[in-house]
Amino acid sequence: MKVTPSMKTFYIETFGCQMNAHDSEKVIGTLVSEGYSQVENLEAADLILYNTCSIRDKAEQKVFHRLDTFKKNQGNGKIFGVLGCVAQQEGERIFERAPYVSLVAGSASYAKLPEMLVQLEAGNRRVTGLSLDTEEAFETPFTRRDNPHRAYITIIEGCDKSCAYCVVPFTRGPERSRTSESVLKEARELARMGYLEIQLLGQNVNSYRDPSPAGLDFARLLRAVGEVEGIRRVRFTTSHPRDFIKDIVEAIEDNPVLCNHVHLPVQSGSSKILDRMQRLYTRDDYLRRIEWMKNARRNISITTDIIVGFPGETEADFEDTLSLLDEVGYDSLFNFKYSRRPNTPALALEDQIPEEEKIRRLAVVQEKQRGIQIRRNSELIGSVEEVFVEGYNQATGQWIGRTTQNRMLNFVHPAHAGPKDGETLAGSYWNVRVTRASPNSFAGEAVN
Ligand code: 5AD
Ligand code: SF4
Repeated sequence: MKVTPSMKTFYIETFGCQMNAHDSEKVIGTLVSEGYSQVENLEAADLILYNTCSIRDKAEQKVFHRLDTFKKNQGNGKIFGVLGCVAQQEGERIFERAPYVSLVAGSASYAKLPEMLVQLEAGNRRVTGLSLDTEEAFETPFTRRDNPHRAYITIIEGCDKSCAYCVVPFTRGPERSRTSESVLKEARELARMGYLEIQLLGQNVNSYRDPSPAGLDFARLLRAVGEVEGIRRVRFTTSHPRDFIKDIVEAIEDNPVLCNHVHLPVQSGSSKILDRMQRLYTRDDYLRRIEWMKNARRNISITTDIIVGFPGETEADFEDTLSLLDEVGYDSLFNFKYSRRPNTPALALEDQIPEEEKIRRLAVVQEKQRGIQIRRNSELIGSVEEVFVEGYNQATGQWIGRTTQNRMLNFVHPAHAGPKDGETLAGSYWNVRVTRASPNSFAGEAVN
C-alpha cells in the first residue's frame, strides 16, 4: 500500500515503561516533522503504529491479539508497524504471524525512522530496523511531549547488565550515553519553553558516562541539570544498586531542586537469590546504600521493585525479602511474579516455583507493604508539603498534587474550589497541610 502525500495520518498506541512512552514522543515528533499528522482514532489513520513492551507475561500473544483486532475492525488499506521491545524480540517472525504488518523496528533503530518511512512511502511491503550494534542514541529535535509541565530526557539508552530474568539487554541493546552538552542543551531549551520539571531517563541511569571530554558521571550530570535556571524539580529513573554511588545522595542533599525520591529496585532480600539473578550486589551492599539515604540531610523517599518466585526461591529466601521490607520501610513498591522471558539466562535454571505459590507470595508481599505504608503515611499527617498540581478530580472535588517525594497529595484550596473559566491550578506549586493519609495517597488543604 502506497502512502500518497495527501493521506499521511498516523495513529500510535504505547505500552511499557517511561522509556517507551518517551520513545513514542520522539517517534511522534519525527513523524510530524516528516509531514504526517497524528489522529486519535484508528479509522482516520493511514499508518497504525504499536509501540510494544515485552518485560513480563505473554506480551507477544497480547500484541498479536491486539494487531488482529485492529486489522479485523479497521484494517483495509492501512499500513501497520510494530515498534519497541516485542518488535526487537520477535523480529521478522512478526511478518509470518501477522502478514499485514509492513514495519518492524526496535528502539535501537529509531534514528533511522525517516529512512524507513521513505521506504514505506515508496510502497515497500517489508521494512525492518532490528540491528542492535548501533553506537547511536535516538536524539531528535522534534520530540512531541505529552505533558505540558514535566518533560522526559533520555540520558542513556540500552543496558550492559545481564540480570538473569531480564529481556532488556536483548530488546534495547548495549548502553549508549548521550553527551552532557546535548542533555544540558535540551534541559535549557525545555526550561525556556516553560517546563518546570525534568525526568532523566535510562534503563540504568547510574552507569551514565559522558562520552565527551567533559566526562561527567551521573552524579555530576544530575548536579548540572539541577542548576538549569527555571527548572524546579529534577527526577531520575531507573537506578541499579550496583552503580548507585554515594555522590548521588550528596548531590540530592546539596540541591533541593533534585527531588528527594530514589527508586532503587532490590528484586529480592536474599543474597542467594540476588546471586542467582546476577544482580552483582548482596543484601548487605544494598542496605549500605539505604543507610546513605537514611543518614542524608534531606528526607529521601525510597521505593523499589520486588520479584517473587524466581527459580530456586525457598520459603527462607522469601522470608528474607519480607524482613528487608520491614528493615527498609519503603514508601511504595512494584511487585511482580517472576515470568520466563525468551533468551534470558534464567530460562536454564531449575526449581521453577509453581504459579499458585507465586500468587501466594505476591499477596503476602502486598499485605505486608500495605501495613508498612499505613504506618509510614500516617507519620506525614500535620506536616506541610510543597506540591506540584497535576490536575483536578471532579469526582472528589480535589486538586491532584505531587510532592517532591513523588507522593500523591490531593487537596482542597479555599480560594480555588475548582477550575473556573478555563483557569486552573495545574502547573503551579502550593504548600499543602496533610490532613489524612491512606495507604496510597494523602489528602490535605492548601495553606498560605
Ligand atoms: N519477571 C518478573 N518481573 C520482571 N521484571 C523484569 N523482568 C521481569 C521478569 N522476567 C521487573 C523487575 C524490574 C521491573 C521493571 O520489572 O522488577 O525492576
Ligand atoms: Fe518493557 Fe523493558 Fe522494553 Fe521498557 S525496556 S518497554 S519495560 S521490555
